[in-house]
Amino acid sequence: MNGFPNVDPIPLPAPIWLFKLLHIVTLSLHFVAMQVLVGSLLIAVLLNLLGTSESAGNAARAIARRLTIVMTYVINLGVPPLLFAQVLYGRAIYTSSVMIGLRWIAVIPALILAYWLLYRFSAGLDAGKRVWWIGGIAWLVIAAIAHVYSTNMTLMLRPEAWPSMYSASSLGARLPVGDPTTIPRFLFILAGGLVAAGLWMIYLGGRKSFSAADGKFLSALGGRIAAVAAIVQIPAAIAVYRVQPAIVQAGLNNHLLYKIAGLGWLLLTAVLILYAAFAAFAKPTGALTSWLAVLVGVLPIALMTIYRDGIRDQTLLSKGYDVWDRVVVTNWSVVGIFLVVFVAGLVTVGWLISVVARATRVMESAA
Ligand code: HEM
Repeated sequence: MNGFPNVDPIPLPAPIWLFKLLHIVTLSLHFVAMQVLVGSLLIAVLLNLLGTSESAGNAARAIARRLTIVMTYVINLGVPPLLFAQVLYGRAIYTSSVMIGLRWIAVIPALILAYWLLYRFSAGLDAGKRVWWIGGIAWLVIAAIAHVYSTNMTLMLRPEAWPSMYSASSLGARLPVGDPTTIPRFLFILAGGLVAAGLWMIYLGGRKSFSAADGKFLSALGGRIAAVAAIVQIPAAIAVYRVQPAIVQAGLNNHLLYKIAGLGWLLLTAVLILYAAFAAFAKPTGALTSWLAVLVGVLPIALMTIYRDGIRDQTLLSKGYDVWDRVVVTNWSVVGIFLVVFVAGLVTVGWLISVVARATRVMESAA
């Protein structure tokens, strides 16, 4: 008796490593889009509130226009990892979702509200208005959604907290108390948002759709923001590690993959800081600048996703839940069809992104 519901007697239809691989790949992509959204929206709001130059206005407009599209990626790239998480961790995540059911369901209207506010914000900027407050409300709604996710992803690891929460209220409106890991994790994600946003600005600065002056503005400001936020993210990461129980820390340190992911993240974050500082001072533009920004942005997020997975698996293991301990009866023909469709889906998403990038270039030169 370990506090988790009984395991589903139906075997898994594919190897666990495959589910984990797909989960980490899709979740990394969700995190890239989500962090770009969280950080860039804040920057666009501040540019509209405080910016005085023409480039500041152009940058705020360009960012806000793209955020309505980024939002679709946040949502669509969130669905696959949610399905994989349910397959691997259903016994934990279904229960924690019910425990905060009202907040969990509230994510859907909150998403719709945030979406609408993003469109209002972008339209207001296009009309030359000071609409920072609309963007500010959208940011608060999005940060609240992020908080619900951090709450659920940490509550799913604490079966010991479920009975008392449910006895206190079955409405699902209460927040769990007494978990020291939730807030550092949430703050780590918020700081990461500014890192991703800064790198995205460097990326945009290198694109042909901007004038030389706007490109330099985006590159210089993005570089400064990414460098400072990445410096802040390192102590936040250390805080996330230090609030883990000793048994989880030991599990992470004794596992080669998590060790490589953790140290790799630190190393790549150092490289990221140097690149962002270079962009801040040299204000480079051009295709190479853009693609380097993507590289130094995406790789640390993927490593962080692996390490985060390790925190979950080691925490669950310490409570008697071994994610690898499942009956597997692989149906290879179905797995094969799935992989073909999955790769075709990723290629289609890549193609859609390139169409959108070309379309915004046309829009920008017409504006
Ligand atoms: C504005 C919208 C969203 C924001 C700001 C957001 C933010 C976040 C954050 C902060 C986390 C990490 C929580 C943590 O581990 O501490 C997370 C994880 C996750 N999000 Fe999102 N999210 C959004 C929308 C969505 C949507 C619409 C879906 C799915 C339909 C989704 C699926 C997931 C999944 C599956 C995870 C992690 C699951 C796991 O740990 O295996 N997200 N999200």
